[in-house]
Amino acid sequence: MTDYPLTTARMARGAEFLGSKYAILCGAMSWVSERNLVAAISNGGGFGVIACGAMTPDLLDAEIAGTKALTDKPFGVNIITMHPQLPELIDVCAKHGVGHVVLAGGIPPKGSVESIKAFGAKVIVFAPTLALAKKLLRSGADALVIEGMEAGGHIGPVSTSVLAQEFLPSLAEDHIVFVAGGIGRGEAIAGYLEMGAAGVQLGTRFACASESIAHPDFKKAFFRASARDAVASVQVDSRLPVIPVRALKNKGTEEFTAKQREVAGLLDSGAVEMGEAQLQIEHYWAGALRRAVIDGDVENGSLMAGQSVGMVREEEPAARIIAKLMEESEAALARR
Ligand SMILES: Cc1cc2nc3c(=O)[nH]c(=O)nc-3n(C[C@H](O)[C@H](O)[C@H](O)COP(=O)(O)O)c2cc1C
Repeated sequence: MTDYPLTTARMARGAEFLGSKYAILCGAMSWVSERNLVAAISNGGGFGVIACGAMTPDLLDAEIAGTKALTDKPFGVNIITMHPQLPELIDVCAKHGVGHVVLAGGIPPKGSVESIKAFGAKVIVFAPTLALAKKLLRSGADALVIEGMEAGGHIGPVSTSVLAQEFLPSLAEDHIVFVAGGIGRGEAIAGYLEMGAAGVQLGTRFACASESIAHPDFKKAFFRASARDAVASVQVDSRLPVIPVRALKNKGTEEFTAKQREVAGLLDSGAVEMGEAQLQIEHYWAGALRRAVIDGDVENGSLMAGQSVGMVREEEPAARIIAKLMEESEAALARR
């Protein structure tokens, strides 16, 4: 007997793939998803993922070791594909025998999927279109996350509900697909499981867990916010394509507009190339997010948050959040 038989039955494939009790991932959140939150999620029955972000291989090495000291449950590592030391970061994961590596932020560069699989880890990728998803699965990816524009952080243009309808009917039977973006309660989890998802990934709902090291002012901003406060950044210059970021509106949102103008100016003058321009934008976000999460500068920093932020009302232990999600999903499935 399990506490949530209807939900765990539908999560069985995802949970087996992850090696966790429940197929609920806490998506990597730069600066937030470090050892404390990751271990708390995995200890609570979910699957924590370290956000490598801009970490050096040495820092990642220490973070994995630190997480292992806090949990004996499986957890993953999320690496951004454009990180200049991607091969070295993969080596660090190999050294620790990390079981799951999530490749985020773009199409995995040639050889990266192979080098992760070579040490026996599973590879989880993001796919913005069905055609790309099929290609990535053919070339060795073990599982997919589809993430809608309701999510916090970097986002694509399509909503979770539409992605789920596009991807799940053709992929869910033969592949492990996790659905992310805008999930704040278990009723939504039940819905995506019924559509064939192997599990779900949440970020915003976990960012303010008691174990999250995010600054108390960052957490307060989340508790006060409603869905409509979590807005997508606007591209101000058509020559500089920037991936939109969803965050709570503040002065930092306006500063990003100014940053884009500055970088577009550098492009115009030939001072930087497009690749460098886009990297500057990404560095801007990493710095701005750090200011809000670590320093508590909620005015000028970036308060990356998804539209489910309105459902985050108080600090709760990660295990309690997971239990609530499971209870809500179970009740929803029992009512069907
Ligand atoms: C504060 C914050 C930081 C994030 N940083 C990252 C990141 O570094 N890498 C990544 O792949 N996703 C990142 N995400 C996305 C989450 O991993 C997750 O997919 C997303 O939050 C799920 O949608 P939700 O916010 O609606 O729950 C971030 C999200 C938030 C809220």
